Amino acid sequence: VQVVVAIDGPSGSGKSTVSKEIARRLDLGYLDTGAMYRAVAWWALDQGVDLSNPAAVVDAARNAPVEISTDPDRQTVRVGETDVTEAIRTPEVTSHVSSVATVPAAREVLVDRQRQVIEDSGRRIVAEGRDITTVVAPDAEVRILLVASEQARMNRRGAQLGGSQNADALRQQVVGRDAKDSTVVNFSTAADGVTTLDNSELNLEQSVQAVMDLVLR
Ligand code: CDP
Repeated sequence: VQVVVAIDGPSGSGKSTVSKEIARRLDLGYLDTGAMYRAVAWWALDQGVDLSNPAAVVDAARNAPVEISTDPDRQTVRVGETDVTEAIRTPEVTSHVSSVATVPAAREVLVDRQRQVIEDSGRRIVAEGRDITTVVAPDAEVRILLVASEQARMNRRGAQLGGSQNADALRQQVVGRDAKDSTVVNFSTAADGVTTLDNSELNLEQSVQAVMDLVLR
């Protein structure tokens, strides 16, 4: 059966971990749209593109040879010949990714590609990001906004980064980035037909179960 599961949410809401697990359990593909924005930012930095110039950013979005796997068990991101799976998660890339995400015409380029990935999957995929439920796949069978308290999100991101970050840097990466991103995309309130799921008090298994309930109902 065709089923597109669209999951949006802020940084640290657990979207990626939950989405991957849902994809595994239902034997669906998995699309991490944030990785696309990150890969374009990585390429732009690598090429010395002026990220403060919107026209240059749009060109970067068009020209960066980004390839993303949709296997939830083998997430690899390549830019041309280079495997950037790890490199796109560095604080350096994280701090520049909003410069790509806040250029509307660059978003359009990536949104088109994301829609193509969804079609190529035979519409059997879990896609996660900030605008999947509203822009990329508003026609998805299941649409969820995954939210969590600021404290829960900072704790999770801190743990993910191995506890090496100081609290201010972490706050900047989580809350600061969300503030920038939300100037162009609204992911703080659910659109019509989108179910909000607050997982502040849920562990991973409980979060997965709550999403599974929504998918299978
Ligand atoms: O680190 P986190 O999981 O919160 O973010 P991500 O999903 O890896 O996304 C990285 C960045 O890409 C976000 O901060 C947004 O700037 C941008 N993004 C977006 O604008 N729209 C999406 N659908 C996905 C990501």
